[in-house]
Amino acid sequence: MEVCINCHVYEKNNNNKDWKSTLSLISEQFNNFRKKIEDEHRNLMENQKKLQEFKITSSYLLKELDKKSHEVLVERENLEIKVKERTKELESLHTKLIQTSKIATIGRFSAGIAHEINNPLGAILNYARTLLANPEIKKQNRDYLELILKGLFRIESIVRQILSYSGYRKTDLQLSNINHIIKDAIDFIHYKQYEKEIKLKLALEKSLPSILLDSSQIQQVFINIINNAIDAMEQKGELKIETFYKNGMIVTNFKDKGKGIKKQDLGKIFDPFFTTKEVGKGTGLGLFICYNILQLYEGSIDINSKKGEGTEVIITFLVPEKK
Ligand SMILES: Nc1ncnc2c1ncn2[C@@H]1O[C@H](COP(=O)(O)OP(=O)(O)OP(=O)(O)O)[C@@H](O)[C@H]1O
Ligand SMILES: [Mg+2]
Repeated sequence: MEVCINCHVYEKNNNNKDWKSTLSLISEQFNNFRKKIEDEHRNLMENQKKLQEFKITSSYLLKELDKKSHEVLVERENLEIKVKERTKELESLHTKLIQTSKIATIGRFSAGIAHEINNPLGAILNYARTLLANPEIKKQNRDYLELILKGLFRIESIVRQILSYSGYRKTDLQLSNINHIIKDAIDFIHYKQYEKEIKLKLALEKSLPSILLDSSQIQQVFINIINNAIDAMEQKGELKIETFYKNGMIVTNFKDKGKGIKKQDLGKIFDPFFTTKEVGKGTGLGLFICYNILQLYEGSIDINSKKGEGTEVIITFLVPEKK
C-alpha cells in the first residue's frame, strides 16, 4: 500500500471506497490494457509477416521485371536486325527488278537494231572486200580500206553476238545434258586454262535430267562465264564448277578465287558494253548476252562477289514437269 499510495494510477482510480475495490479496478484496467497490448502485438506480428511476404514478393517481382525488360530489349534488338535484313533484301530485290527490266528492254532494243544493221552490213563488207581485192588500188586507199574492214569486222562480231539470242537465228532445240555442254565449253577454252595453269575442280551430278535447249547457245553462256573467271585470276588460280538438281531446277555453280567485283560495279556488270578489261580485251557484252540467252529458257543468272575474295556465278534452268 505504501508503494500504491504514492502512485498516480492509484490516485486516479481511488474512489474513496476501500483500497481493495480500487486495486481490483486497477487490476481490471491493467488486464484490459494488457489484452490491448497483446492484440496490438499480434497485429504487429501479422503486419510484420505481411511486410516480409511483401518484401519477398516485390523482390521476386523486381527480378521478374528485370528479366522481362531484358527480354524485351533483346527482342527489340532482334526485331531491329530483322527489319534491317528485310529492308536490305527488299532493296536488293528492287535493284534486281530495275536491272532485269532495264536489260530486258535494252535486249529487245539492241536485237532490233542488230537485225536492221545485219543486212546492209553484209553488203558493205562484200563491197569493201571486192575493192581491196583490186590490185590497182593506191597504197593510201588500201590502208584506209583495211582500217574500214577492221572496223566492219568488229561491228559484225558485235551484231553476231547480239543476234545469237534474239531469235533471228533459228535455234536448234534438242534434249541436252548440261554436264556435256559444260565439258564441251571447257574443251573449247582448254588452251587458256592450260596457259594460266588454272586448277579446275568439277563436281557434276551424274543423273541430271536432260532439257530441251539449243546447246550451242548454252555453250556460249558457259564459255563466257568460264572466260570471265579465268580472266579474273592470276596464274595458278582455282575454278570450281558444280551441277546439281534441286526443286525442279538444274543448278550450275561457277566459283572462282579471282579478284572479285567491286560493290559499285555489281549493278552494272550485265549492262551492254560495261567492261573493266583493257581496251581490246573485252567488249562488255559477255554477261549481257548470257542474260538474254538464259531469258529464252526461263533460266536465271545470279552473281555474288566480293572484291579480293572471288566470284560465284549461279545459273539455273527450269526443268519442265513431265505430263
Ligand atoms: N568472274 C569474274 N570475276 C571478276 N569480275 C568479273 C567476273 N565476271 C565478270 N566480271 C566483271 O564484269 C565485267 C563484265 O563482264 P562481261 O563478261 O559482260 O564483259 P567482259 O568480260 O569485260 O567482255 P567480253 O565478255 O565481252 O569479252 C567484266 O569486265 C568484269 O569487270
Ligand atoms: Mg566476259
